[in-house]
This record gives sequence, C-alpha cells and structure tokens, in this order.
Amino acid sequence: MAWSSCLLLWLSLLLSYYVPLSFAHAYWPVGASTRFYHFKVQTLRVTKLCQTNDIVTVNGKFPGPVIYAQEDDRVIVRVTNQTPHNTTVHWHGVRQRLSCWADGPAYITQCPIQAGRSYTYEFTLVQQKGTLLWHAHVSWLRATVHGAIVVYPKTGVPYPFPHPYEEHSLVFAEYWHKDVLRLEEDVMSSGGGAPPADAYLINGSPGPLYNCSATDVYEIAVVPGKTYLLRLVSASLNTEHFFAIADHRLTIVEADGEYTKPLTVDSLVIAPGQTINVLVQADRPIDTYDMAMAPFMSARNVPFQKTPAVAHFRYSGAGPEAPSRPAEFPAFNDSLTADFALSNLRSLNDTGVPLVVDANLLFTIGLAVEQCHSPHPNASCRGPGGGVFAAAMNNIAFVEPTVSLLQAYYDNTNGYYTEDFPGVPLKDYDFVGGAPNDTQPLNGTRVKVLEFGSRVQLVLQNTGTVGTENHPVHLHGHSFHVVGHGTGNYNPTTAQLNLADPPYMNTIGVPAGGWAAIRFVADNPGVWFMHCHLEVHASWGLAMAFVVKDGNGTMESLPHPPADLPRC
Ligand code: C2O
Repeated sequence: MAWSSCLLLWLSLLLSYYVPLSFAHAYWPVGASTRFYHFKVQTLRVTKLCQTNDIVTVNGKFPGPVIYAQEDDRVIVRVTNQTPHNTTVHWHGVRQRLSCWADGPAYITQCPIQAGRSYTYEFTLVQQKGTLLWHAHVSWLRATVHGAIVVYPKTGVPYPFPHPYEEHSLVFAEYWHKDVLRLEEDVMSSGGGAPPADAYLINGSPGPLYNCSATDVYEIAVVPGKTYLLRLVSASLNTEHFFAIADHRLTIVEADGEYTKPLTVDSLVIAPGQTINVLVQADRPIDTYDMAMAPFMSARNVPFQKTPAVAHFRYSGAGPEAPSRPAEFPAFNDSLTADFALSNLRSLNDTGVPLVVDANLLFTIGLAVEQCHSPHPNASCRGPGGGVFAAAMNNIAFVEPTVSLLQAYYDNTNGYYTEDFPGVPLKDYDFVGGAPNDTQPLNGTRVKVLEFGSRVQLVLQNTGTVGTENHPVHLHGHSFHVVGHGTGNYNPTTAQLNLADPPYMNTIGVPAGGWAAIRFVADNPGVWFMHCHLEVHASWGLAMAFVVKDGNGTMESLPHPPADLPRC
C-alpha cells in the first residue's frame, strides 16, 4: 500500500471516530447555507372593511414576507426601521442557540431599534425545521408586523408523511382600525379590558362575512384528488381561534415546528404564537368550501369579535358564482373540544424528555385586580369592581425595565432586576377554586436563575382569582416537552405524566381552571422571556424571565453582544 493511501485510511479512521464525538459535544451553530433578508419596517396605507388606515408592516406586504430556509441554515436579517415608532423583531420558536442577542423582545434582550436605525439579527436554525413565525416584540406592534418562517428539512430528507401536492401558509391576525400603539396606551390607561378586534384576517383578508369585504377573500385553488399541506400560523393578538374547513377533516402532522403523530380532527384551536401544520385531502365533490377562523373564548364577560374570518378552498371546476359551503364550529367557549388536540397530540419521534429533574418549579398564572388609586376613577379604573386589571406569575406582575435585561446581566450592572423570582407560590391556597382575600399582586422585575444544563420541570397552574381563562404561555430560547395537563389544582401524587412521547412545543395553552406541566433543559445561556402570548395579559404583567447561566464547556457561554446592538 502506498504511503499516501495509508495516511488517508488512517485519517478517515481518525475522522470517523473523533468528528461525530466532538460534534455531539460541541455543535457550533455556523450554519449550512446562509439566507439573507432585508426587512424594512414601514408604514403602509391599506383599505379594509371600507376604511383606509396606515398600518406598520415589513417591505410593504401584509402579512410580511416569509422567511424560507433549511434545517441548520444560518439566517441573517437586517431590520431597518423606516417608521417613527420603536421596533424589534422576534423569531418566535427559533431556539437561538448561543445567540440570545438576536432573540428580539424589547427591554429583555435588546433595546428597541429606533426610527431610522438598523439592527442585523443573526442566528442558526440548529436542528430545527417546520413552520414558525416572526413578529415585532414591542408594545402591540405585532398586530400587523408579522409573518411566517418556513424551514424545510435538509436536502434529500423527506417529510415523515406523504409528500403534499402543494403547500400554503395561512397567517391569522386580528385587525383594528385604530392605531395599535394608541390602542395599547388607551387600554393601559383605562385600567379595563381590551376592545374586541374590528375583524379577524386570514392572510390579510377578512372574507365575505364582514361589511364591505365580499371580494376581500383569500383563496386557494385546489386540484381534486390532491393532498395539501397547510401551515397555520397564529399572529393574533388577544384571541385564540378555532380553525376548520367545511366538510374536510384536518390531519395534524406538526405543531410548533416539531413533527407529531398524525391526528385527524374536524376543527382545532390555535393560540397566538402557535403554528400547526395540517394535511387536507381534496376528496369532496367539486365545489367551494370555507376555510374559517372563529373565536375560542374561555373567559366569561370578555367582549370579543364573533364574526369568523373566511377564506376559500376552491376546487378547479367549481362555478365562480356558486355560494361557498360554510364551515361549522364548536360553541365559542367549548373548552373540551379546544383541549382535545392538546390531550391527544404526541410527538412523532423521541425528543429526549429529561427523566430526572434538577429544578422543580410551580408558577401560578392568572389575572388580578389592583385597587384604584386614581383621582379619576371613571377614566382610569375600568377593571372589575372599579379596580385596575393586572396579571401575574406567582403573584408578581412583571414590570418592564428601562434597559435590556440581557445587557444588564452581561455588564453586571445592578439595579434593574432582582434574582428572587420565587420557584413556587409565596402563598398556598386553593388556586383554582378560591381567591386569596388580597388579589393585589406585587410588582417587580424579577428573574429566576437556572444553572447551565439544569433539567427543569415547570408546572403552570392557572388560577381562578379573576375568572378562569386559557393562557397560551410562551418560553423564549427553548422548546419544552408538554408532559402533562389537567383540570383543577396540580397534585404531584395523582398527576399522570407522559414521559414517552409528549409534544415538543414553544407555546402551551394552559387549560382554563387547570394546569400544564412542561420539562426542558436549560442549556442555552442568556436571558429568556416567558409570558402569556395574549398581548393584553403580557402588558398587564403575565410574564417573567429566566437567566440561564454559562456552563464551563467551550460551547456553553453567552457570546459578546454584536457591535450594532441598539442602545436605550
Ligand atoms: Cu411570540 Cu415573546 O413572543
């Protein structure tokens, strides 16, 4: 054997032994290909329901552009703010491995991008594929500043289901004629609830059930006999929605960017921040069928928009004039149907649920009412009983800091937050059934510190302090295994946990009057926001942040901030 081929053999042996090992150990997120986008945040004049308004969007599109990539790609998005308002963009569901500075929530990982300025977000989709979404993460701007993220598997890797004939994204939103920044200010200064949306939208169109919108209808042209993959993306602000297609069943194959065992349903609920992929078979008689989103409202006495948004699933050959077949929905407050998918969703693959837990946490989540301290109670204390609406986790209403928490943590500056967010409620009581005498939450910017690599179980316990309501809780920087959920108060001795094939998600609708248990490994250093994805609840304080400390290994430290990171 020639010396050179001997060396080659020796080298390849060496590589085959050492490369996989060192990679498994230290998967540096460099990216396979790089996708570059330029997002110009702009004001756009639109006419909806016969009224013309200026809304904030990206690149003149509403919904904004889709980010397309493949698993393990590097994504670089330069965001230029061409509006007079502060902005940021969050890549919802992207786990931001060692790139916390690119996460996007204002005053958590960055200061806002001010008018006229730019910031370049860079991250790698490490072991991620599927549908996710991006949205503004400052004030209520995400009502209109949002779009889908579509991550395809690596080249040559098929979907774990029959390849669909076509794929379509359907982005759900809520629309107000009023400027949404003003809307937030007005709601917050009123002390009361948020007014219902003027319309729901599917890909920017309300559909024919709204005034003046007979032709403002999104449509998918369908070839009979084919299978379609619909990527459902909820960018709604304050409402969860049912989705259904007249006379067609939906087979869920992916949720929050992770494959699930196929689950076939007549309708499903999607909460703000969630993404669900469904397969639909075009096997019905040639006709036009409604694809519709209708409100799911688990709380009582909360006003909401009742008219569904409708898009069309139109078979080729269907007469253009024939009326479309209406979709049917459960009652707007049908929690049983809403929770069905959650109870029955299973992850397709083994996602590595931690079987042993290092940190056992229990957070109560819910609304609260503070006493009125205003000299003008009629104007500013419009919450229940003449009080002011608030919301809290473990009875602490989150107060947004005036600097970025991540910057304060990185620079080691004191005074902006405290590390005493409690791991369990400060007071023990019947969380679901009984309210404490004093519903007044504490206010503060508190974080919970987690050691690098700690395996966390977190039980999110819904309270009944001010009514009961489903809260979609979202964790940044990690996906979590939804190992259990139930009604009433969580009881560790009777709770049934699924440690075999729980769904792996980033946003979990915690059942009204119940609880959900999640597990995750805190292996991503940085500051990670966790909050209710109903925006009004987040504004009221239903939020907290985790600090995940650096580990000792080489790929286990928060990098330095990028040079163009916006300053406050
Ligand atoms: Cu989709 Cu903190 O957000």
